[in-house]
Amino acid sequence: MRQAGRYMEDYRKVRERVPFKALCRDASLTAEITVTAQEKIKADAAIIFSDILLIVESFGFKLDYVKGDGPSITPVLKSAADIEGLPTAEPRQTLAYVFQAIQETRRSLKADIPLIGFAGAPFTLASYLIEGGASGNFKKTKALMARDERSWGILMDKIAAATVEFLKGQVDAGVQAIQLFDSWVGWLSPEQYQKYVQAHTKKVFDALESRVPLIHFGTQTAPFLKNFSEAGGDVISVDHRVALSEAWKVIGGEKAIQGNLDPAVLCADLKAIERETRRILDEAGGRPGHIFNLGHGVLPETPLENVIALVEMVHEFSGGACRVRRAGPAF
Ligand code: CP3
Repeated sequence: MRQAGRYMEDYRKVRERVPFKALCRDASLTAEITVTAQEKIKADAAIIFSDILLIVESFGFKLDYVKGDGPSITPVLKSAADIEGLPTAEPRQTLAYVFQAIQETRRSLKADIPLIGFAGAPFTLASYLIEGGASGNFKKTKALMARDERSWGILMDKIAAATVEFLKGQVDAGVQAIQLFDSWVGWLSPEQYQKYVQAHTKKVFDALESRVPLIHFGTQTAPFLKNFSEAGGDVISVDHRVALSEAWKVIGGEKAIQGNLDPAVLCADLKAIERETRRILDEAGGRPGHIFNLGHGVLPETPLENVIALVEMVHEFSGGACRVRRAGPAF
């Protein structure tokens, strides 16, 4: 994740010329960024260069990426009437440029490197629409769900339906796995997760009918990991706040796990990176179904050579590149 983010000189150079949204809309630049990142760090899979927030434009919102401030979405959703009035999103039309980007990227990426498509999960997207951007406490989102459960349900249903269409389109365009990002769900209590989120996320996973392997991403999910896992996904992503062995006990041996290096470790030195990498691999104990990954995205200030070194270490310590076992039709 954020493999082509701002820590990469190649990416920053392209970004100097082209605004972020324009980049996402340009299939050949998207392909170039995705492929360059994969080739440079030699990861075993590539994630399409795009963003979880582009879909808000399908609902008629204005989306801007403000330098230094992150994303901004206007107008913000406030009332039951705002939610009732949301148009039906047509992501197959409004996000057709993502499908083109996927096709072009698939053509230029090495054949044995799976391409991952993605979308935001309903809760994380709803929180952006209600907060208007990043939030330190999610109080508007939590107030709305607690005050007006009915409108919250309508909103989550509308987002889930659009997300399903969008992800099906990505699979049709050629992605070989899907990652659903519920990045901010860890701000909820176990009860809030169960009551306001789980069923909506489950609808998205169920509708995809296992056409490709599905990865369920969240952070700070340890207090409700069982519910999070039951919402769906063949692979459950966990961050550094939970031990892999503990997570596996909760999730059960049937599912794969992705994680869980603390991204901040990549800003330390090679010794520390090696120590943490060995520790995580030891904890996974060579069992099938471990995808080594960070618990969250690469931080912008991370030295590129540390990311390259990490991938080399994982390959070396785990006995060779890309020990991908058959996990589904696309692998
Ligand atoms: O790894 C990749 O490069 C793949 C593409 C990718 C991006 N965003 C590109 C991007 C992916 C998989 C995402 C997902 C995404 N976007 C998430 C889920 C993952 C996570 O981080 O939890 C979320 C929450 C977003 C929303 C978003 N988009 C934020 C919060 C920001 C600002 C980030 C910041 O640090 O300023 C973005 C913009 C964004 N998306 C950038 C990139 C490379 C930076 C844009 C720039 O060049 O200025």
